[in-house]
Amino acid sequence: MKWIIDFLLSSLGKKLIMSLTGLFLCLFLVVHMLGNLQLFFDNTGEAFNVYAYTMTTNPLIKIISYGNYFFILLHAVQGILITMYNRKAKGGSYQGKEVSDTEARLASRNMRNLGLLILVFIGLHMWQFWAQMHFFQMETQVYNGVEVKDLYSLVKEAFSQAWVVVFYLIALVALAMHLMHGFWSAFQSMGLSNKKYGPIIRAVAMGYAILVPLGFAAMPIVFYVLK
Ligand code: HEM
Repeated sequence: MKWIIDFLLSSLGKKLIMSLTGLFLCLFLVVHMLGNLQLFFDNTGEAFNVYAYTMTTNPLIKIISYGNYFFILLHAVQGILITMYNRKAKGGSYQGKEVSDTEARLASRNMRNLGLLILVFIGLHMWQFWAQMHFFQMETQVYNGVEVKDLYSLVKEAFSQAWVVVFYLIALVALAMHLMHGFWSAFQSMGLSNKKYGPIIRAVAMGYAILVPLGFAAMPIVFYVLK
């Protein structure tokens, strides 16, 4: 048991936790983005409300959600610890390659700043939707005899405010930049990016980092402009 704890606290262990939690969160983001596309499927909101109801009441998905909250916190805390460590460290290696002290510090400081902005965004976002749904009285709709919370109207109301839309778009640009570096470097940290597969992983990381935030960004934009 002690060796596991020692490993997890070592710099390699910390990077591994960062990579694995990061990749899990990447998977969550794809599922969340694809699921939220239901917002566009019908103007009454039934498709989205029924989807959100299923996602929040299914016991298996509930367990995955708890894992998700834990991984978000672990990823954030570990990220802060790594930047603090990098600040103290003099020169050395970053993601497996020898780089200058300034380069390594700059890369990890950028990732930390983007990560902190994304964390603030997640806090606001969960307050706006998740907390309202779980802890407060909300409008409901009845579909096929089942009473379902009307999250569609909540999303529509949130995205009718210009400041919310602007804040989401800024956070999504930060998310894209964080993902561009993070997705690829997770593979690098796990030693999975070599000469042969490196360029493919880089291309997939780039495509992912652009398409996922773009899919999310379409939601506030379309609602603000059209609905
Ligand atoms: C911009 C479009 C987005 C919309 C319309 C949206 C909508 C929602 C809604 C309605 C919920 C509450 C229902 C639920 O728990 O499933 C939710 C939860 C959540 N959202 Fe979003 N979201 C968006 C973007 C994002 C982004 C970019 C992130 C992360 C960077 C994110 C992270 C989360 C998290 C962590 C939860 C809690 C999920 C859970 O309980 O398992 N969302 N979102």
